[in-house]
Amino acid sequence: MKRHKSDVTGVQRRLFITFEGLDGAGKSTQIERLLHKFQAQGLRVVMTREPGGTEIGNALREILLDPKHTALSPRTEALLYAASRAQLLHQVIRPALERGDVVLCDRYVDASLAYQGAGLGLGSEEVARLNRFATEDLKPNLTFLFDLPVQESQSRVLHARSGSAPDRIERRDAEYFQRVRQEFLRIAAAEPERVVVLDATASPERLEQEIWNIVANRYVDLE
Ligand code: TMP
Repeated sequence: MKRHKSDVTGVQRRLFITFEGLDGAGKSTQIERLLHKFQAQGLRVVMTREPGGTEIGNALREILLDPKHTALSPRTEALLYAASRAQLLHQVIRPALERGDVVLCDRYVDASLAYQGAGLGLGSEEVARLNRFATEDLKPNLTFLFDLPVQESQSRVLHARSGSAPDRIERRDAEYFQRVRQEFLRIAAAEPERVVVLDATASPERLEQEIWNIVANRYVDLE
């Protein structure tokens, strides 16, 4: 079995990659493709998502996305996302990293900084503090930010939904998603070592190649 380039000891052993961006940016497609590439190299991979990924997380996801919960306060919303994350970390992510598996996660703390911190105006420092508690400050080694104009995201979501009702978050207005997008870009600019910005309007093939080049170069002893 192949080993990570950084497979030395302890914390350095882990390969934890997250994927962020507005809905419709093509994250799921690329996560699947990366999963298969890692597997083809003989690495064990755990693929998961937020909110959800555990039974408790899925129950929280239902509450968070159900449009009938109009009374949910911004702070409650941030806490529920953080709760789902804490459970996922406890039950799935940490055990997988300890086994030496690669972990691919569709959204993580940056999503809360963007959607709750900036989008809802809770402030990114407050939301970061809450998430340091939820995650015991476990950070990904690498994050791909799929950057997409808000209008493009909304038209892709509308198209993909084909008639079904928008969820509680999707109902928010374009200004909300502008704040979300800008916060993602701010995080990327502040942490260029961790966050790689991808142009999500590029073709799936091009994105796949770009992602693989970065992963193979940075972290893994692969060809
Ligand atoms: P998704 O599975 O389509 O990505 O749905 C999750 C929704 O929840 C999406 O609209 C983004 C939103 N979200 C937050 O608002 N905060 C978070 O911390 C996370 C993980 C997701």
